[in-house]
Amino acid sequence: MMGEIDSCTRLTGLFGHPVGHSLSPLMHNRAFQELGLPYLYAAFDIEPSNIASAVESIRALGLRGVNVTIPHKVAVMPFLDEIDEEARQIGAVNTIVNENGRLIGYNTDGRGYVQSLIEEGNINPPDARVLMLGAGGAARGVSLALLRAGVERVVITNRTYAKAEQLAVELTQLFPGRDIRSIPVEQIACEIKESTLLVQTTSIGMHPDNEASPIPAEYLHSRLLVSDLIYNPLQTRIQRDALAAGARIHSGVGMFIYQGALSFEYWTGRKAPVHIMREAVLASLTADK
Ligand code: ATR
Repeated sequence: MMGEIDSCTRLTGLFGHPVGHSLSPLMHNRAFQELGLPYLYAAFDIEPSNIASAVESIRALGLRGVNVTIPHKVAVMPFLDEIDEEARQIGAVNTIVNENGRLIGYNTDGRGYVQSLIEEGNINPPDARVLMLGAGGAARGVSLALLRAGVERVVITNRTYAKAEQLAVELTQLFPGRDIRSIPVEQIACEIKESTLLVQTTSIGMHPDNEASPIPAEYLHSRLLVSDLIYNPLQTRIQRDALAAGARIHSGVGMFIYQGALSFEYWTGRKAPVHIMREAVLASLTADK
């Protein structure tokens, strides 16, 4: 049972634009309730022009902290008192913690991803040979987190090759000595044979394009774990193809749940009830169908 909402209730929430479809309020409120913690999580739709005053309001209103999502993850950074080293490396903040008026920015997306990969995908990062599809913001965050977790080899490919090349150069500067490369998409067929973890970070296959896949089904093989950051649909075309090829799959819903769990732990100091959070999210995603 959640305690009564009273004068001791601590407020957390989400800063985004739009926020109407976010599952974070449901997930966090269910988790607070499960542990009987006097917290509430609300969604705040913040126009980009209001982001500075919104961050200031965390201090003014005494919010315990917030999650930050599109389009504010970079924009909030100048208004914080401190930015954690990992968030600085990623160049974006998805979690703010208010420590007695001092606002600290963290990024739990990449770490959440790796944690879900380890726990749900049964992967030992140092052994994984990664092929990354896409070179945008998500690919950058996930690659950094994988490298921080000890991955030795990351090969990046992207429709716009120059972006893959640029990301590979940047990651090599941060992690010299690792095997980090970019390849044009024409070389996927050969590279994938050497890979054990395929990370799909593009928007291909996202609802309503449920039948689209970024690579031909015949490239997939049984030594692969196919991880897709998309979680709507819950199983993407590439994941269905992967199962048919005898490969294992890892769902994007894990990243969402674990990034939330890490934020929850920053705000409450308590271990997040991950199973309850997953149950709430999955129930909502399948109810939508
Ligand atoms: P995110 O933050 O989700 O990573 P992003 O930074 O806009 O979003 O990156 C989107 C990624 O999906 C890019 O790698 C993009 O490829 P380009 O750099 O060539 O644009 C990729 N992507 C999106 N739609 C695609 C499509 N139809 N075919 C191939 N790649 C696509």
